Amino acid sequence: MSLDPIRYQAWRTLSNISKGGVFEHELDTALARTADPRDRRFLAELVRGVTQWRDRYGHIVDTLSRRKGGTGRDVRIVLGLGLHQLLACDRVPSYAAVDQSVSLASRVTGRKTAPYVNGLLQNVARRLDAGGMDELRKLFPERETDPPAYLASWQSHPRWLVERWIDRFGFESAEALCRFNNLRPPLSLHVLGDAPIDTVVSRLTAAGLSVRPSSLAPRGLIAVTSPPRGEIAKLLADEPSLVVQDEAVQAATEFLGAGITGRILDMCAAPGGKTVHLIASHQGKATLTAMDRNHGRLRLVSETAVRSGHHPDAIVAADGRRAPFADAVYDAVLLDGPCSGTGVLRRHPEGRWRLRPESLTRNAARLLDLAREARRLLKPGGLLLYATCSLEPEENEGVVDSLLSEYPDLTPCAPADDDPGIWRRSWLPHQDGADGFFAVRLRREESV
Ligand SMILES: C[S@@+](CC[C@H](N)C(=O)[O-])C[C@H]1O[C@@H](n2cnc3c(N)ncnc32)[C@H](O)[C@@H]1O
Repeated sequence: MSLDPIRYQAWRTLSNISKGGVFEHELDTALARTADPRDRRFLAELVRGVTQWRDRYGHIVDTLSRRKGGTGRDVRIVLGLGLHQLLACDRVPSYAAVDQSVSLASRVTGRKTAPYVNGLLQNVARRLDAGGMDELRKLFPERETDPPAYLASWQSHPRWLVERWIDRFGFESAEALCRFNNLRPPLSLHVLGDAPIDTVVSRLTAAGLSVRPSSLAPRGLIAVTSPPRGEIAKLLADEPSLVVQDEAVQAATEFLGAGITGRILDMCAAPGGKTVHLIASHQGKATLTAMDRNHGRLRLVSETAVRSGHHPDAIVAADGRRAPFADAVYDAVLLDGPCSGTGVLRRHPEGRWRLRPESLTRNAARLLDLAREARRLLKPGGLLLYATCSLEPEENEGVVDSLLSEYPDLTPCAPADDDPGIWRRSWLPHQDGADGFFAVRLRREESV
């Protein structure tokens, strides 16, 4: 059987990533070289799937392999690709998954590994024929006797992370969270400003996209089917009042931005979802400066501003820890800072593997530095709006508690119409069915 170039391209992409290449960059480069939309979808599915299920597939290889420790990186990627086709790609017949993997193994590692790849994948195919996924699950640690090992391998997450989640949320919730992280998110849209939602929905329906209203965000729409990546760009180009934004993030932005007026600084603004959302919902009441350290990502803020017609008053490339502004000049500072992103792992198949336990304390220190600078920039009476897409207390409550103890002039501040106790909110993926998000409102008092 001749080797399919798309599978070879997927192998090369995964090989580059395994040698330190940046996931999104490697995948985008490979997709740019692939013309046919069906090929592009298959390529993306293979690269994403093998990355996401790394430890599930690794466990199968280690358990069924007689070459313990002897399976090199190149051949493990071939096996991951074969397993993903057998386990997750309904349209690929088993014989094609096995034969293509054997051809791929011969191409990338020489003929010597072909019989091994053939034997292992045939073994998995037989088990699937005999009893489907339940049969394969028997190869994994027992859910009841070793919950962390079961979640780490079967749900393919770092063990230290699932141990934390089991301690914090309990096993059932930790399992629900891991499952959620392995689902493909639906396209979630926000209708900006006061654009009429019904009209937007009619236009989307006419363009072939069915949507339902979000249950978390009043101006949110969730796609019922998933349009291909290229079509999303076209839909957005035709509909300037739409931005892609998760429904929990929309709800959090509404909560954070409630009642603010005057000069706003969006301190870590790129790619600009919240920037444009805040500008559109505060027209005539506030002006906004968008800042970020990353020049490349700031370009995305400009692009979204131009497309939507909602422009920041200024876009500034600077490190938020040394912001180029005088003391006490802003009425509100939004700090949606760099964090572990454990609330959005479903969107980043590689994100879970990049994290280390020490990432959390390192991020927390950086977030606290940014928050101190945010407070410096606030006028007395101004609002510090703190947000992360993390589920981890170090990056959330830990930073806020440190701030509150360091600065007696910072006090919790709920939106005017809310219960005064509601100055801090969080959204959990496995409970809310959306991205995980944490949001806090603090006011800098006039004088203490
Ligand atoms: C979670 S993202 C922000 C998302 C953005 N608020 C939105 O809604 O689209 C975090 C951003 O922080 C930026 N960043 C990281 N360190 C920074 C620093 N020291 N100063 C300013 N921006 C920083 C990153 O470049 C990244 O764009």
